[in-house]
Amino acid sequence: MLELRQLSKEFKGNVAVKPADLTIPDGQMVGIIGRSGAGKSTLLRMINRLNDPSGGQIQFHGRDITAMKGRELRKWRNECAMVFQQFNLVGRLNVITNVMTGRLYHHGFVSSMLQQFSARERAFAVRALDRLGMAHVALQQTDTLSGGQMQRVAIARALVQEPKIMLADEPIASLDPLNAKVVMDALRAINQEDGITVVCNLHTLDTARTYCDRIIGMQDGNIVFDGPPKALTDKAARTIYGAEAAEAFSEALTSTSLQQPSGKRPEVETRVVN
Ligand SMILES: Nc1ncnc2c1ncn2[C@@H]1O[C@H](COP(=O)(O)OP(=O)(O)OP(=O)(O)O)[C@@H](O)[C@H]1O
Ligand SMILES: [Mg+2]
Repeated sequence: MLELRQLSKEFKGNVAVKPADLTIPDGQMVGIIGRSGAGKSTLLRMINRLNDPSGGQIQFHGRDITAMKGRELRKWRNECAMVFQQFNLVGRLNVITNVMTGRLYHHGFVSSMLQQFSARERAFAVRALDRLGMAHVALQQTDTLSGGQMQRVAIARALVQEPKIMLADEPIASLDPLNAKVVMDALRAINQEDGITVVCNLHTLDTARTYCDRIIGMQDGNIVFDGPPKALTDKAARTIYGAEAAEAFSEALTSTSLQQPSGKRPEVETRVVN
């Protein structure tokens, strides 16, 4: 279980996240939605300590994440993989080498930098690529891939970390609808088959509704909604999106409807704040 208690972040007088309390049970798939600047990325980045909190606490299975430093922090970042909108792959390296950099923590820094990986590690990386339908490009130079393919490689890299949590910051924002579906299906499959907790920032309501067990709505640094997709009424969405609600709804209606992969959703309680 991941617990955020009164977690906040201030950037030089600008409060990005106001004291937030959140408990995420293992194995949940959570979507964070909200307008630009609401604090979604900051909240996510605090969880793996890319941004250091200004106040409050993060706990995972009772371990205090907020206080971690050095080796302990590196271990946490390995347990808590991150997928980015812009993939963060090394274009001039081939695909399998990019995936194997996900083994950095397990492998040791020097041998990883020298790209000395064992046959077992290569097989592991190929299996991860295969799950994402990408094994056939394992030896291809990464910058020859399409955006959708790159994001699948980035997810394979996150998978070989053998994480307990996967954080994804707008993983489909740069992708066309078809690739967006492939990537969201992959995240959902990882969540359901491996039991990995997934927390992802999403910019469309319908994607969050389609894929997530639980939706967190942020507005102006506050969590203003927390509940299952069915509880996200028009009124709740309007609270989250404010004046942009009409636009958000028309987008939800007009964007390609992503079909949810099979699988049951756990019961999630609703916490509508304000
Ligand atoms: N490194 C930083 N330095 C200063 N201010 C920052 C920094 N990162 C974020 N902020 C500010 O914190 C607030 C929240 O930003 P954040 O990136 O978390 O929003 P977001 O919800 O992810 O937005 P978007 O949908 O555009 O990605 C914004 O006002 C932003 O300008
Ligand atoms: Mg963001």
